[in-house]
Amino acid sequence: MSRIAYVNGRYVPQSHAMVNVEDRGYQFADGVYEVIAVLDGRLVDGEPHFDRLDRSLAGLRIDPPCTRRVLRLILDQVTRRNRISEGFVYLQITRGVAPRNHAFPARATAPALVVTASRRGPPSPAAVERGVTVVSVPETRWARPDLKTVSLLPNVLAKQQALDADAYEAWFVDPDGRVTEGSSTNAWIVLDGQEIVTRPLGQDILAGITRQTLIAVARASNMRVTERAFSVAEAKSAREAFITSTTSFVMPVVAIDGAPVGAGRPGPVTLRLLDAYRRHLASGGSD
Ligand code: PDD
Repeated sequence: MSRIAYVNGRYVPQSHAMVNVEDRGYQFADGVYEVIAVLDGRLVDGEPHFDRLDRSLAGLRIDPPCTRRVLRLILDQVTRRNRISEGFVYLQITRGVAPRNHAFPARATAPALVVTASRRGPPSPAAVERGVTVVSVPETRWARPDLKTVSLLPNVLAKQQALDADAYEAWFVDPDGRVTEGSSTNAWIVLDGQEIVTRPLGQDILAGITRQTLIAVARASNMRVTERAFSVAEAKSAREAFITSTTSFVMPVVAIDGAPVGAGRPGPVTLRLLDAYRRHLASGGSD
C-alpha cells in the first residue's frame, strides 16, 4: 500500500508529495517538528506534544497554520489513510514559501504544514535485552535546543559519529563536562539507592515528552527522581543508564565510551521504568 502524506491542504501519495524549493524549511531550516507515537490508532500524549509544538512555534515567531483541533483531525486522517494502528506521525511546520532572504518575508506567508506517518512498533524485547551503547561528544548545537526545530545538523553529525564508533547514540557534553542529552533522546542514570537522575529542563535540552511522562510514572510508583546535571564520569560509574524518546521508549544503555555501565547489561530499575511506561501507554497515555 502506498503511503499517504498531508502537504499544505492535500492528502497525496507520499512518492508525489512535494514542497516548493523556496520553502524556508528547505533553505534555512526555518521550521519546527514533532514526532508522536500512535497506539491503537490514537495519539499517545498528544496534548503535551501540541503544547511543546506551540512553544517551538512561538520561539521562532511562526503562526500556527491551524487550530489544535484541526491539526488533530489532519493527524487522525493521515493515521487512518495509512491504516496505522501502531506507529508514529511526523509533523513539520515551516515559515512557508518566500524568495530567499534571511529576514522574515515582508508580507506574511502562510506557514507550510507537512504530515507523514510510519508503521513501526516499539523496540523489540530482544533490542531491550541487548541495550544500546553511547559515545560522548562535545556539545556543538546552538543555544536553544529546547526548541524542536528541523535544524538538526549537529544532531545528525553526532549520531553518525556514534554509528561510526559502533555505538547507537551520542551524548552531547557541555563545556563543564556534564551530559546535556542525546542526539535524539534524553539521558538518564541510576545511582546507588535507586536514585534516578536526569538533567533539569532549561534552554539547553529538549523537554522530552517521554521524559516528562516517565518522571510522573516513576514518582507515582514511589521511585526517586532527581533533576540535576551529571558528568560523563558519573554516568560511567553509575549503576545503570538509559535513554528515552518517543521512538526509543525507555532503552537501557549498557556502555559509555566503550566502558560497561554497571554489570554491562540492562539494569533492574531501567526495566521497571520501561514496564511502568508501557503500562502508561497501554492505558492510552494522556491522549
Ligand atoms: N527526538 N532530545 C532530542 C534532541 C530529541 O530529538 C528528542 C526526540 C528527545 C526526546 O523527546 P520525546 O521524548 O518527546 O520524543 C530528546 C524525536 C523522536 C526525533 O527527532 O525523531
